[in-house]
Amino acid sequence: MIEFAGLDTSPYTVHNVFTPTQPAKLTFIDRDIVNNDLIDALETPGTQVVVYGHTGSGKTTLLTNKLEQVYSHHITTRCMKGMTFEQILTEAFDQLTPFYESDRSNSSSESAKGAISASYLAIKSSLEATKIKAVNSTEKRALPPQLTPQALGRLIGNSGQCWVIEDFHKIEATEKDKLSQLLKVFMDLAYEYPCVKIVCLGAVDTARQVVDYDKEMKERVAEIAVPLMTEDELFSIITKGEKLLNIRFNQSTKRKVVKYACGIASICHRLCLNMCTSANIKYKQSTLTVIDDHHFDNAVEKYIRSASDSLKSSFDKALKIRRSTKFDSSTLIIKALSVVPERGLARLNLLKIIKEDEPNYTDHILKSHLIKLTEHEYGAILRYDSNSGLYSFTDPFHRAYAQSLQHTDAKQTTQPQLVRQIFITLKEDYAVIEYESSVEH
Ligand SMILES: Nc1ncnc2c1ncn2[C@@H]1O[C@H](COP(=O)(O)OP(=O)(O)OP(=O)(O)O)[C@@H](O)[C@H]1O
Ligand SMILES: [Mg+2]
Repeated sequence: MIEFAGLDTSPYTVHNVFTPTQPAKLTFIDRDIVNNDLIDALETPGTQVVVYGHTGSGKTTLLTNKLEQVYSHHITTRCMKGMTFEQILTEAFDQLTPFYESDRSNSSSESAKGAISASYLAIKSSLEATKIKAVNSTEKRALPPQLTPQALGRLIGNSGQCWVIEDFHKIEATEKDKLSQLLKVFMDLAYEYPCVKIVCLGAVDTARQVVDYDKEMKERVAEIAVPLMTEDELFSIITKGEKLLNIRFNQSTKRKVVKYACGIASICHRLCLNMCTSANIKYKQSTLTVIDDHHFDNAVEKYIRSASDSLKSSFDKALKIRRSTKFDSSTLIIKALSVVPERGLARLNLLKIIKEDEPNYTDHILKSHLIKLTEHEYGAILRYDSNSGLYSFTDPFHRAYAQSLQHTDAKQTTQPQLVRQIFITLKEDYAVIEYESSVEH
């Protein structure tokens, strides 16, 4: 039989089970704390939804799985830096083509159906006309006057779909007010189309960072916070994967995967996938196959190798000197956080450590710089947990990189040396799990 690498079609291939870069289906586990709130919000006519939380916390996966229970179809717009509000409307409109071209209208009366189709066709032909113009000149594609938020809302409502807008926080501040107005339009359309709805997703700490909507809309916007995964949830993913592939990891290996993942499911999926690759497992096994502990080390090294470029680039962004200031805040914060336990520190405790080196450093400077280090422009090397009030490195790999920077000069170190250094740092950090596991046996 010919094997097509990367083109797995059987459902129980290792790539369908462990999915570090796409929403989990087979290993999907319900997030009990947010499930009911999300379903309630999706089912309530007129309620708009904002789903937010740390990157990798599982927002897209949760939404994808839950939307299937409520809607048969939805459209998704993924925002990118520099995108305008007009482009967002046009992108959403373009996704309605399959629905309107195959005439699956929900309208009850013929006249309503006729009006909706006429509206669709008018917008489409205006858009096509501007497309032709755009090809012939450098002119920007203009939004047809008929493509208003109301008209788009009606077209989406009539198609029985909801509209998912991902990463709206990446859009320029000047465009943000318009989204707030858009939410208002969709709320009001619920009388005509009870199912019409916008769901906004953002990898941020508060719902208002995704959409800054007016106070009077508060009652009609459900804010759903998706927390990082608990250790039990991460264990459940591994256990589901084991059953699906008929494999078994050692208990100690599972504990290490959960610790290294640090609440981020994609790391958990990636390490499990790497272990399977290292053990040459591609499909569901016909007999129960035990995966040895040494595959864990291979998995971690492979993970670090593939992540080392992006780790380096994140730290370069964090450490880049943008203007001359009295203190090099990034270096001071990274140094202080790399010597404390992985769960991190509250701001004032961090200040105490920094002041040992720099007695004149102030809380004011620290406060604003800490926020920057959680943002993409500064490499997002830190995360802030609003429940505990602690700042920590985004994950153990970022922490190990930061520790390696204290021992080595990143500019003088080759990539393989750096990978080895991070690997050793992580092993030392988690030596306690190794020790506990060896005592158990
Ligand atoms: N409930 C879940 N059950 C199993 N695996 C999950 C679950 N949620 C997320 N994952 C896995 O975690 C990874 C990240 O999930 P997802 O992309 O949904 O996060 P996100 O919060 O949308 O991230 P981002 O902010 O970067 O878009 C994926 O590999 C996905 O397969
Ligand atoms: Mg996502």
